[in-house]
Amino acid sequence: MQDASRFGRGRSSVFLKLLLSPIIAAAAMSFSSVLVISNALQLNRMGLWIDWRDLKMADEDEEKAEDISRRDFLGEVTSVVVGLGLAASCVPFIESMSPSEDVLSAATTEVDLKPIDPGATKTVPWQGKPIFVMHRTNEQIKAMQASMGGFDPVADAKRVERPQWLVVIGICTHLGCVPNKVDEGWLCPCHGSLYDNSGRVLRGPAPKNLYLPPYHFVSGDTLLIGKDEKQT
Ligand code: FES
Repeated sequence: MQDASRFGRGRSSVFLKLLLSPIIAAAAMSFSSVLVISNALQLNRMGLWIDWRDLKMADEDEEKAEDISRRDFLGEVTSVVVGLGLAASCVPFIESMSPSEDVLSAATTEVDLKPIDPGATKTVPWQGKPIFVMHRTNEQIKAMQASMGGFDPVADAKRVERPQWLVVIGICTHLGCVPNKVDEGWLCPCHGSLYDNSGRVLRGPAPKNLYLPPYHFVSGDTLLIGKDEKQT
C-alpha cells in the first residue's frame, strides 16, 4: 500500500515536471530577451551603441579616402614625370637659342691700331658691313672740333671716344652705297653725298650722318667693334 502510494506520488511529480518545463523555458527566454533589449537601450543612452550600418558606412568612407589619396598620389607622380619630360625636351631648344662661340666671335671685330698711320683709314668688316677706322691727325681733330657738321649737326666730341680715332659704319645713309675716302672726308659715288672727317653729312642727298657702331678700346692699341663699354 505504501509502495502504491509512493508510485502515485512519483507519477504526479513527473507529470508536474513535464507540465512546467515549457513554461519555465519560455519564461527564461523572455527574461533573456528583456535583458538584451534593456542592455541595448542602456548602451544607446550612453552613446555606446554601434549600429552595423554605421560600421559599413565607415568602411566605405575609408575605402573612398584611400581611393582619393591613391588618385592624388598618381596624379602628382604623373605631373612630376610630365614636367621633367618637358624640361628635358626644352634643353636642346634653349641651347640652340644661345649663340655659339663662332657666332659670338663673328659678332665682334678686333682691330690692331698700330699699323694705321696718322691720316690713314683702314676698312674692316663687321657683321657684313664695312667699318671705317680713321687715325686722325691733330689738324683734322682741331678742324672737326671747330665745326658742327652740315644739316645733321652734332659736336665731334659726341662721335668719338678718343679724338684721334674715328670709327663709323661705311654705308651712305641715302641708299646704302659705300663712300670713298677724300681729303674732306668721304664722297658717295652713287649720288654725290659728302661727309666730313667726323662722318657728318655736309652735302646730300644723304639725310643723316654716318652711323656709329658699338665699340670700345680693350687696350691702348686694340679696338673691339661690336660691343661698347657698357656691354663688357
Ligand atoms: S647712296 Fe650715297 S648719295 Fe645716294
